[in-house]
Amino acid sequence: MSSNDAKLVFTPSGRRGTFRPGTAVLDAARSLGVDVDSVCGGRGLCGRCQVTCAEGEFAKHAITSRAEHLSPIGEVETLYSERRGNKPLAEDRRLSCQARIQGDLVIDVPAESQLHRQVVRKHAEHRDITLDAGVHLFYVEVQEANLQEPGGDVQRLLRALESAWGLRDLGFDSVALPVLQAALRKGKWSVTVAVHNAVRVIAVWPGFKRDCYGLAIDIGSTTIAAHLCDLSSGDVVATDGIMNPQIRFGEDLMSRVSYVMMNPGGATELTDTVRDGVNELIQDVARQGDIEVDDIVEVTIAGNPIMHHLFLGISPVELGSAPFALATDAALNLTALELGLQINKGARVYVLPCIAGHVGADAAAMILAEEPHLLDEVSLVVDVGTNAEIVLGNRDRLLACSSPTGPAFEGAQISCGQRAAPGAIERVRIDPETLDVRFSVIGSELWSDDPGFEESIEAFGVTGICGSGIIEAVAEMYLSGVISEDGVVDGALADRSDRLIPEERTFSFLLHDGKQRIVVTQHDVRQIQLAKAALYAGVKLLLDHAGISAVDRIRLAGAFGSHIDTRHAMVLGLIPDCDLDKVESAGNAAGTGARIALLNVTARREIETIVRGIEKIETAIEPKFQEYFVDAMAIPNKSDDFPLLFAEVQRPVPKSHVSGGDSGRRRRRR
Ligand code: FES
Repeated sequence: MSSNDAKLVFTPSGRRGTFRPGTAVLDAARSLGVDVDSVCGGRGLCGRCQVTCAEGEFAKHAITSRAEHLSPIGEVETLYSERRGNKPLAEDRRLSCQARIQGDLVIDVPAESQLHRQVVRKHAEHRDITLDAGVHLFYVEVQEANLQEPGGDVQRLLRALESAWGLRDLGFDSVALPVLQAALRKGKWSVTVAVHNAVRVIAVWPGFKRDCYGLAIDIGSTTIAAHLCDLSSGDVVATDGIMNPQIRFGEDLMSRVSYVMMNPGGATELTDTVRDGVNELIQDVARQGDIEVDDIVEVTIAGNPIMHHLFLGISPVELGSAPFALATDAALNLTALELGLQINKGARVYVLPCIAGHVGADAAAMILAEEPHLLDEVSLVVDVGTNAEIVLGNRDRLLACSSPTGPAFEGAQISCGQRAAPGAIERVRIDPETLDVRFSVIGSELWSDDPGFEESIEAFGVTGICGSGIIEAVAEMYLSGVISEDGVVDGALADRSDRLIPEERTFSFLLHDGKQRIVVTQHDVRQIQLAKAALYAGVKLLLDHAGISAVDRIRLAGAFGSHIDTRHAMVLGLIPDCDLDKVESAGNAAGTGARIALLNVTARREIETIVRGIEKIETAIEPKFQEYFVDAMAIPNKSDDFPLLFAEVQRPVPKSHVSGGDSGRRRRRR
């Protein structure tokens, strides 16, 4: 060290060293292993290497740091700001590839300049996800072709990548070959390449390119959802969803399997349909994110086993009956071309692993998002759909099964049921004294007894009841004594309320009498009982296999699971007793898991390992399933008590069996 050498400390890493005056800050950072991003290789083009000089006396480091201890802003940085127009370098920022050390410095590397920055998650509970995408961009200047040095452009490019970026032994994807020569010449022998897993060039663009994107897709039987993410920042640029166009072949999964069995070429038809849907969604999110589809270079896919197979072009027929054999349960690394995805031709597709015949890559993604495997507490994670996927366990052990709940939770097979759309009743309250009903519908913030409610729903009216609405309606009917523990609508109440409507030998309960009459029939209550009993029986089998009788926390995932009121779900006995504060919706956990897999390649290895270790329980062959199912037909359950729930919620008293004078004692917390 010479006496002229300057002391440098980088924050937040705390790495420090001494450097010759004139050293570029980026070079100093690299020599100390400080994580600073760069796409352009220090040419002042990408702006990824920005740092801030912290000014002042830093007694702890024995450093006086001043902005003047950096070389003045030069031509390259000025040009960078001019080129970026409305996003020039902020006053306190410098390009670390251009700023040179002239004295002691404390240099802060902001989060957005770190290559492996933390991707902040919406429901960050246990950890943040570190950005470590599978595809990175590299800008490179390539030696111009000339007669003296014959050889191919690919080889010249690979040599340049090795000398500029130290990328040795790279492969070059044949799909990028047709565009390489034009890109090199258009870019005046400079190009940006996308490199997959540091081993293969998969795409080439002329000149400098700053950003590339990835897509996390969850293919559900009803909806397909996609997050478009910036692979350099981890930010979600656009999110959208569409109805799965396969719905025209059947609402539920088994009817699609039947379609394949009954119609020659049906599997191909369903594969084409779902891929068309995904391509349509890709166009939508690209438009929303204001990017070219060609800029999408990586995709991750989650989906239930039947969607997984159909999207991959595999017939789902084997999944339709025992032993429910998957073609493969391993994670897959494919290309966009193989799957007919209309994005960059070299784009890679990672398909998450499946767990079992009815527990798919969506459940694997759900585990990645909810991380039950990192906790001491026992978690129950349920994706509530036409087929419930259930995961139970903690860091010691995970078990999974699925249970055939049927389409009732989605509003199908319910007399006034409908999809979750404007006009559908989604929240219900029944006054236990008067049996008066208040409700709210999708599309309005107001309750039906709020002033202005009628005006707020004028455009669509009250059209039916959706899955979350029917859950609340049946749970409230139970709490207000309209139905018994066995789910029987108490006709004796017809003397006291005209909401009880006789229908042959049973009774229906009137929720709303308007242009459309919305009722819950005895048959509807039965459908919900059957669906919830199937789910609960699955949970009970997992608890048995785990040798435990209670769970510490519950997460409800999926489009439906994230909309139902957790308290009402427990009142119905959809899920076991649990501290109500520990029961939450997990939103689209499969979509979040697919996003984690997109942004962090280590998470892919992690989920592959976890899935291999999961104990799979096949409900169809479990002798106790039927017994648990029968018990779970009762509300909340015939054999299991719900002490934690009923410490919070007043148990109902059958109305037709009590006199009218005890109303004060029956008040409960709502
Ligand atoms: Fe690209 Fe500094 S490394 S601008």
